[in-house]
Amino acid sequence: MALKITVIGTGYLGATHAAAMAELGFDVLGLDVVPEKIEMLSAGKVPMYEPGLEALLRKHVAGIEGSSGRLRFTMSWEEVGDFGDVHFVCVNTPQKQGEYACDMSYVDAAFESLAPQLRRAALVVGKSTVPVGSAARLATRLAELAPAGAAAELAWNPEFLREGFAVQDTLHPDRIVVGTESERAEKLLREVYATPVGEGSPFVVTDFPTAELVKTSANSFLATKISFINAMAEVCEAADGDVVKLAEAIGYDERIGSKFLRAGIGFGGGCLPKDIRAFMARAGELGADQALTFLREVDSINMRRRGHMVELARDAVGGGFLGKRVAVLGATFKPDSDDVRDSPALNVAGQIHLQGGQVMVYDPKGMDNARRLFPTLGYADTALDAARGADVVLHLTEWREFRELDPAELGEVVAERLVLDGRNALDPLRWREAGWTYRAMGRPRA
Ligand code: UDX
Repeated sequence: MALKITVIGTGYLGATHAAAMAELGFDVLGLDVVPEKIEMLSAGKVPMYEPGLEALLRKHVAGIEGSSGRLRFTMSWEEVGDFGDVHFVCVNTPQKQGEYACDMSYVDAAFESLAPQLRRAALVVGKSTVPVGSAARLATRLAELAPAGAAAELAWNPEFLREGFAVQDTLHPDRIVVGTESERAEKLLREVYATPVGEGSPFVVTDFPTAELVKTSANSFLATKISFINAMAEVCEAADGDVVKLAEAIGYDERIGSKFLRAGIGFGGGCLPKDIRAFMARAGELGADQALTFLREVDSINMRRRGHMVELARDAVGGGFLGKRVAVLGATFKPDSDDVRDSPALNVAGQIHLQGGQVMVYDPKGMDNARRLFPTLGYADTALDAARGADVVLHLTEWREFRELDPAELGEVVAERLVLDGRNALDPLRWREAGWTYRAMGRPRA
């Protein structure tokens, strides 16, 4: 009999994981406590923009014409408890209000609701990013609450998916990491992931704390790499060097590698910033805070980028934003996503607005979310409209659409042909040839 799988929490991670599990051939039941989400997903709609996810969902959601029917959604914990052999907990762990630590209330609530429904042998698998030590605590809670007793077990299986590549990362992961305490748990997870493992994804078995730490240390490394190149950008600016050339040159060294070396306005989103902060907070609790003090610097280099972009723009328009029109291209924290959480682009747009600039924002997918978060900014329907009458154009999220803009056409509608590239992603030559002054972070002024 094929394993039956449940997925608890159907946000970014959960919705993608549920659809991917159905794609791998399992019968899947997804649960969420928000009725609107269940309604949407049951109708084959995804509440966010993620390339390929809606198509995958529609391929499997029961009741949709031509679907495999392997994927259903519910709000009933009892149904989930009866249905599943393996339960994936995919709820989010945001940063706590007013402190660095992560908010475990959704994870805790999920365990408190699920465990009493586990009347038969089952494996609960945590996927959420949690502070190290959480799995051991939750295993104890599971043992206390589950009617099945020791037959209800826990494993930890962190998730590394990137927004914009969520489907691909879930179906063809770089690696699968499982923290387990028994052979039975490992065997079940090998069964769940037989397809990607068969295709060559490494399967790494660890204890609980190591599995939890793999996730936070991977994100800390990525954040550090970005802040490293941004620190080099600061030095390049001071010394008249070119950080893009520098990144290319050091990237040829295989030990360094060229990925995640794009200097600009830095990282944002729902993961990297809060994960490094939660990691520092947890290390402090464990008495290992000294080991992670460098992450404080990583965080502050990153946050400085946003302020620096605002300064560059202020200088470019003559020292003050009052009465100046500023076009902002990009609102999401990265391209191919509609996510504006802790978005460097919106942060820069917001600061300029607060300093008196008239800001017009355009983003290919993030407009609704941006409007909700920053209703006081101006919004335009196209890049061209945003640029109309602008004294300066800021390129803040590296969407392909912006790389493909025609600088000559844009040049017709602006007040000044002045573009600041906050992502080092536009082609300076193309813009300069069309009569623009092109400036970027960490690059010489030509
Ligand atoms: C990240 C991790 O990559 C992923 O493995 C983990 O599961 C969740 O967190 P994500 O939040 O989707 O994924 O974003 P990511 O692609 O890592 O980008 C994060 C931020 O860094 C973006 O704002 C991006 O614009 C920025 N970035 C990335 C840079 O500024 N420079 C780079 O070279 C790369």
